[in-house]
Amino acid sequence: MVPQGAANDSPQHSRMVSTPDLTPNRVVPLPDTEGGPQPSTRPIIVFERVNKTYPNGNAALSEVSFTVHPRDFVFIVGPSGAGKSSVIRLLIREEAAQGGHVLVDGQDLGRLRRRHLPRLRRKMGIVFQDFKLLPTLTVEQNVAFALQVTDPGRRHLKEKVAETLFIVGLEDKLHRFPDQLSGGEQQRVAIARALVHRPRIFLADEPTGNLDPDTSWGIVQLLLQINHRGATVLVATHDREIVDLCRQRVIALEDGRVIRDETGGQYLEAGEATL
Ligand SMILES: Nc1ncnc2c1ncn2[C@@H]1O[C@H](COP(=O)(O)OP(=O)(O)O)[C@@H](O)[C@H]1O
Ligand SMILES: [Mg+2]
Repeated sequence: MVPQGAANDSPQHSRMVSTPDLTPNRVVPLPDTEGGPQPSTRPIIVFERVNKTYPNGNAALSEVSFTVHPRDFVFIVGPSGAGKSSVIRLLIREEAAQGGHVLVDGQDLGRLRRRHLPRLRRKMGIVFQDFKLLPTLTVEQNVAFALQVTDPGRRHLKEKVAETLFIVGLEDKLHRFPDQLSGGEQQRVAIARALVHRPRIFLADEPTGNLDPDTSWGIVQLLLQINHRGATVLVATHDREIVDLCRQRVIALEDGRVIRDETGGQYLEAGEATL
C-alpha cells in the first residue's frame, strides 16, 4: 500500500521493461567508512548453523549458514514467512539466535554486551518497506536527526546531510515534509537517513514492497550504487522481477532453510518455469 499523500511516481508505466542501467548517475564518492578498508579475505557477515525460534514456538530459521564478504551485494529471497526478516533482525541484534553463531565484522553477536550494541549498529544502515520517516520533520531534518542520534558530536552536520541527499537525488527537496513526497522519494529519504553515517553494511528489508515497478527499479539502482561505493549490501525481498534483472548473488530461503546460494543468480532456478 502506498502511504497516504504519496504521489504516483510514474503514472504512465505499469511494468518495468527497461534494461538495467548500472551507470552511477552521481559522482560524489562516499568517504572511507569507519575503520578504513578491511582485508578482503575476512568475511563481514557469517551465519553458522543458525537456529531461530520465537518465544511462541515459531521456528523461523533452521541451520542457516552463509558467508558474506566486504563489498558483496546479496539478495535474500523467499516467500512470505521464509525467514528473511529474521535474518535481518539477527544481524542488527534485535533478536538473538538460539543455536549457531552470527558474526558481524568478526564479532560473535551471541557474546555481544548490551553496551556494545550502539557500536554494532553504527556499522549498519537499515531501511524497511514502510519508510518510518518522522512526519513533522522536513527531509533535511529527518536525515540530520539520524546523524545526531548516531554521532552526536559530528561537525559539519549540514554539509554531510546535503551531500547524502545529493547522493540519493533529493538535493532539491530538502525542505519538503514526508507527505509532500512520492513513495519512491520517501524511500530515498529513508535511504539517505540510513546512509548518512556511512555504514559499512547496508540492510534493506523489502525496500520496494510499497513501490510500483519503475520506482522500485530506481531504488534498487541506488542500492547497487551504494554497493559500488564500498558498502556491503543485503536486500531481503520477494520482488522477483528485480532479483532476476540484477543478476547478483541470491540466497534463497524456504521454511527457514537455505535452499540455494548462487552467484549471479535469479529468483528462480534457471530453467524453472515462471508463473
Ligand atoms: N516476532 C515473532 N514472533 C513469533 N513468530 C514470528 C515473529 N516474527 C516472525 N515469526 C515467524 O517466523 C517465521 C519467519 O518470519 P519472517 O522472518 O518474518 O519471514 P519473512 O520475512 O521471510 O516473511 C514465520 O513463520 C513467522 O510467522
Ligand atoms: Mg519479512
